[in-house]
Amino acid sequence: TVLVVDFGAQYAQLIARRVRECQVFSEIVPSTMPAAEMLAKRPKAIILSGGPASVYEPGAPAAPAGLFDLGVPTLGICYGHQVMAQALGGTVANSDVAEYGGATIAVTAPGLLFEGTPGEQAVWMSHRDFVSAAPSGFTVTARTDVTPVAGMEDRERGLFGVQFHPEVLHTEHGMEVLRRFLYEGAGCRPNWTMVNIVDESVAAVQEQIGSKRAICGLSGGVDSAVAAALVQRAIGDQLTCVFVDHGLLRKGEAEQVEKDFVAATGVNLHVVDAQDRFLDALDGVTDPETKRKIIGREFIRVFEAAAREIVGEDAAEPVEFLVQGTLYPDVVESGGGTGAANIKSHHNVGGLPEDLQFRLVEPLRTLFKDEVRAVGEQLGLPAEIVWRQPFPGPGLGIRIIGAVTRERLEILRDADAIAREELTRAGLDRDVWQFPVVLLADVRSVGVQGDGRTYGHPVVLRPVTSEDAMTADWARLPFDLLQRISTRITNEVREINRVTLDVTSKPPGTIEWE
Ligand code: XMP
Repeated sequence: TVLVVDFGAQYAQLIARRVRECQVFSEIVPSTMPAAEMLAKRPKAIILSGGPASVYEPGAPAAPAGLFDLGVPTLGICYGHQVMAQALGGTVANSDVAEYGGATIAVTAPGLLFEGTPGEQAVWMSHRDFVSAAPSGFTVTARTDVTPVAGMEDRERGLFGVQFHPEVLHTEHGMEVLRRFLYEGAGCRPNWTMVNIVDESVAAVQEQIGSKRAICGLSGGVDSAVAAALVQRAIGDQLTCVFVDHGLLRKGEAEQVEKDFVAATGVNLHVVDAQDRFLDALDGVTDPETKRKIIGREFIRVFEAAAREIVGEDAAEPVEFLVQGTLYPDVVESGGGTGAANIKSHHNVGGLPEDLQFRLVEPLRTLFKDEVRAVGEQLGLPAEIVWRQPFPGPGLGIRIIGAVTRERLEILRDADAIAREELTRAGLDRDVWQFPVVLLADVRSVGVQGDGRTYGHPVVLRPVTSEDAMTADWARLPFDLLQRISTRITNEVREINRVTLDVTSKPPGTIEWE
C-alpha cells in the first residue's frame, strides 16, 4: 500500500485516486497518525499531501515525528514539500507573491522524478510559502521564476519533494512524475487491477458472512447495485435484495431495477410497494429538511418490516448482515475510522439507524466511484446500471419545490423522462454528472399555447458536471439540445409552459434544489 498523509481535505483524495490510476493501492491516513503506526501498515511509499496551512502558523500540522527516518520512500507535495524541507533543516519562506494556477517549471537537474521529461513543463501551483533552501543532502531539481526550489530530492534516502501539484490534470507531466516516484523511486508494481479487487473482495465477503444470511437495500443507484452484485457473487442465495418503491422514483426506474438487475445477477429480489405510505406521510409538507426526515423514517420502517418478512417473523436465524454501498470518500470524510459510526445520513435514503440490529458488510469501502463502476463492469452488470447518473435517495420528493402530490409527481416524471431521453440521444450521458429536473410547483407564470392563455408551472433544468459531487459546475449543454428539451417538455407535458436553465455552480448552489 501507499499511504497518502492528509494535510488538508480535498488534496489527499485526489492524490490517492491518481496513485490507484497507476495501479498501486493507496489509502489516506491523517497527519496526526504516529509514524510507528504508519510503519505497521508496511507501506511501500508515503506521499505527503498539500494543505491549506502555512508551516509558520501556530498549530500547523507537522510531519509525524520520525517519519523521515522510517526508510520508506516519501514524496512531499506542496505543503508536504514544505513540511519535509522544514523538518530536515531546509528553510521555508513567506512570500508576498503567491503562485496560483498555471506556471512553468524549469528542470535544473532531472534527478529521478523528471528523468525523460522536458526541460520546461507546465505545472499547477497553489501556494504562497515556498522552500527557499533545500535541506543538506538534497539536489534541487526544478525552479520557477518565483520558486527557487520547485523540486528537490535526496535519492539516497528516498526523499522527494515538489512544490507543484502532480495530481492535478493541468500539470502536464504530473502522472509521469507520480509514476516515476512509485515505480522507480519506491519499487511499487502496477498490480492493483479490477480483477484482483473483485477476487479479493469476494473472498473477504465469504469469510465475513460464512453461511449466514444477508440483505441489501437496492436504491437503483450504482453503489448499492455493485455492492449487491459483489455479495451475490460471494454468497449467492444467502443474499436477498430489498427494493422499496416509495413513489418518488423516476419513470421506468422500478421496472429497471426489477428487470435489468435481476436479469444480470439472478439475485433474490424483495420488492415493497410503499407508495401510499410515503405519499400520505408527505401530505402537505413543504420544508426540505422535514421532507428528508419523513422519507428517511418511513424508509427504515418499511425496510425493517421487509427484513422480518424475508425470513419469517419467528425465524430461528434472523438476518444477521446488512450490505451497504459505502464508498471510500464516505469513510474518509467521517474520520477514516471503522465500524457502524461511519454511516452517513446522506448515504442511503436518510441513512439507517445505528440501533438497527445488523452487522455491516461494506465491500466497496476502500473504493472510489470510478473504481466502483469498473468493478460493476467486471461483474458483468449492464451499462445502464454501471453508468447511471447519481440519483438522491429521497428521489423526486426533493425535486418538487412545494408539497409533493401524485399529480405533481406525474408532471415531473414526464418532464424528467424527456430531458433524460434527449440527453441520451445526444450521446452526452457520460459527460454530464447528473441532470436533475426541478418542478417549481408553487410558481405559476403566464404563457400562450395554441391560441389560448396558459397559467402553468416552470421546470428548471439543472445539468451539472462534477468529479465527485463535492463541487460542481453547470454543464454547457448545446443550445440545440436545450431547445429540443424545452420544446418537447412544453408540448408534451400539460401544466408546464416554461423551461428554465440553472447556471449556478456548486458552491454556491448545491446540485439538488432541496
Ligand atoms: P447536493 O444537492 O448536496 O448533492 O449538492 C450532492 C450529491 O448527493 C446527492 N444527494 C443525495 N443522495 N441521499 C442520497 O443518496 C440523499 O439524501 C441525497 N441528497 C443529495 C445529489 O443527488 C448529488 O449527487
